[in-house]
Amino acid sequence: MENLRKNQALFLLLLSLSSFYGIALSFSPADDYLIDCGSTVDTTVDNRLFISDSSRASSHLLTFSTRSKSIQLSHRNGKLPEIYNSARVFDRPSRYIFKIRDKGTHMVRLHFYQLNSSQFVSDDAQFHVLVNGYVVLSNFSVGSIISSASVKEYLIWINAEKLVITFLPTMKSKFAFVNAIEVISAPKDLILETAKFVNGDKIDNFDALSKQALEVMYRVTVGGPKVTPFNDTLWRTWLPDDEFLKSSEGSKRVYSTGRIWYQSGGASREIGPDNVYNTARVIAATNASIPNLNMTWEFPVIEGYKYLVRLHFCDIASISLGLLFFNVYVNGNLAYKDLDLSIVAGYSLASPFYADFVVDSYHSGVLSVSVGPSDKSLGYAVDGILNAVEIMKMNKSMGILDGELCAGLILKTWPRGNVGILVPLIAAVCVMLSLSVFKHRTFWFKNSVAWSKLPVDVSEITSKLGNQHT
Ligand SMILES: *[C@@H]1O[C@H](CO)[C@@H](O)[C@H](O)[C@H]1NC(C)=O
Ligand SMILES: *[C@@H]1O[C@H](CO)[C@@H](O)[C@H](O)[C@H]1NC(C)=O
Ligand SMILES: *[C@@H]1O[C@H](CO)[C@@H](O)[C@H](O)[C@H]1NC(C)=O
Ligand SMILES: *[C@@H]1O[C@H](CO)[C@@H](O)[C@H](O)[C@H]1NC(C)=O
Ligand SMILES: *[C@@H]1O[C@H](CO)[C@@H](O)[C@H](O)[C@H]1NC(C)=O
Ligand SMILES: *[C@@H]1O[C@H](CO)[C@@H](O)[C@H](O)[C@H]1NC(C)=O
Repeated sequence: MENLRKNQALFLLLLSLSSFYGIALSFSPADDYLIDCGSTVDTTVDNRLFISDSSRASSHLLTFSTRSKSIQLSHRNGKLPEIYNSARVFDRPSRYIFKIRDKGTHMVRLHFYQLNSSQFVSDDAQFHVLVNGYVVLSNFSVGSIISSASVKEYLIWINAEKLVITFLPTMKSKFAFVNAIEVISAPKDLILETAKFVNGDKIDNFDALSKQALEVMYRVTVGGPKVTPFNDTLWRTWLPDDEFLKSSEGSKRVYSTGRIWYQSGGASREIGPDNVYNTARVIAATNASIPNLNMTWEFPVIEGYKYLVRLHFCDIASISLGLLFFNVYVNGNLAYKDLDLSIVAGYSLASPFYADFVVDSYHSGVLSVSVGPSDKSLGYAVDGILNAVEIMKMNKSMGILDGELCAGLILKTWPRGNVGILVPLIAAVCVMLSLSVFKHRTFWFKNSVAWSKLPVDVSEITSKLGNQHT
């Protein structure tokens, strides 16, 4: 009896602890590599240990050429995390190889900060980066990174035993570098199989979403302050929305100090943390007449790609259920009509919900998101809300996320012997593929079956790339 009571007390204690520390307990990734490149010692950032890539513990990860150099920056920037004070520099193709325990979507983050050492100047850094068969950076230089660090983040489906990150200088006189690398398994529900494809005034299903490689272009929390990796469940950064909001007239910020009610089936805490869902902007009617306006955000994008637009909603503003109805537009097209958060969020206020839309970028280099009252909107009520936006660039054909060349052609720019036996093989397949694209373009452009065959071949290359190393 005594024991039982003790156990019950312990159970209750654990329960209350776990709701306090829900964030820390909820997600532990199967693959979790944090690498501090070029450093001789391990570094802790926000309670996360980045292992030095020169240490014994990580020596199996790196197969750089003997001429790769690690450098410590001479002028340390005390304001930035310690990982930016060292870098590894490559003057020829080199790769990091990560063993994958759990196949599926992985988050890959590459950290860059301008170099300032006696040996290397940032101007001479110009390089390509491949992740398995995907081109994630092409002809990249850090000229634009002036005083702050740059983090490139990708979500990539890995169906191989290894994840290989290859750095290739664009030519012999240039070099590649990186300050830190993260490779982390994503939660299974982070990228689902389907989204809504908003194509003019038509809405179709977009399938196989999780198999696309995605680059995070914008991750914005609406109406609130920046959310840092320290406060995020997946160590993400969410920037404030001010610079993207077209006009704040007629909308207002709201924030909640109350609890966010995560529900199974809705957005999980990994989809968005409390700090993101407890701020928003709203359109509200203070009297019987419904405001005739939209809130609109605009994001510069590169044309020629599809984009995944993830919108986050959480009704922290209404005084009761069943009062909030609004329309959602992406690129000026109606994406969600009469959205009723009460229904989609399980009849609970302050319960998060998100929606994924895929769009093409034919709109003059700008992707827009609008929220505004619908025919069902009510007076004396909230008539539109948005809590956060994420915009991710999707790879175009042949796994290209940047530039025009596929992985095989990029590898081919380096002479034989520098990248090993692997290159000619992939290069050959890639050239064949580009030829076949060309052929399909010329002759069978209208045949969508011919098109959808391509991707299959490319992912085969990806797995070959992985298998080569086993
Ligand atoms: C780069 O280093 C030089 C001296 O080596 C120093 O004068 C300069 O301020 C540094 N620049 C930055 C941005 O740290
Ligand atoms: C790479 O970038 C440089 C300048 O940043 C440019 O001169 C060059 O043409 C680019 N090369 C390719 C293949 O895009
Ligand atoms: C984390 O969030 C809390 C409360 O929202 C805030 O006070 C704190 O400054 C944040 N910490 C960091 C490192 O961003
Ligand atoms: C309702 O409120 C808005 C602004 O809050 C105001 O512009 C409008 O004139 C009001 N309408 C009426 C009928 O009072
Ligand atoms: C809101 O935006 C949509 C899409 O651009 C547009 O059709 C609608 O007229 C706008 N509403 C107002 C009140 O401006
Ligand atoms: C992205 O690349 C994959 C694999 O290479 C391919 O299956 C897919 O069709 C590409 N996505 C797009 C939108 O072209």
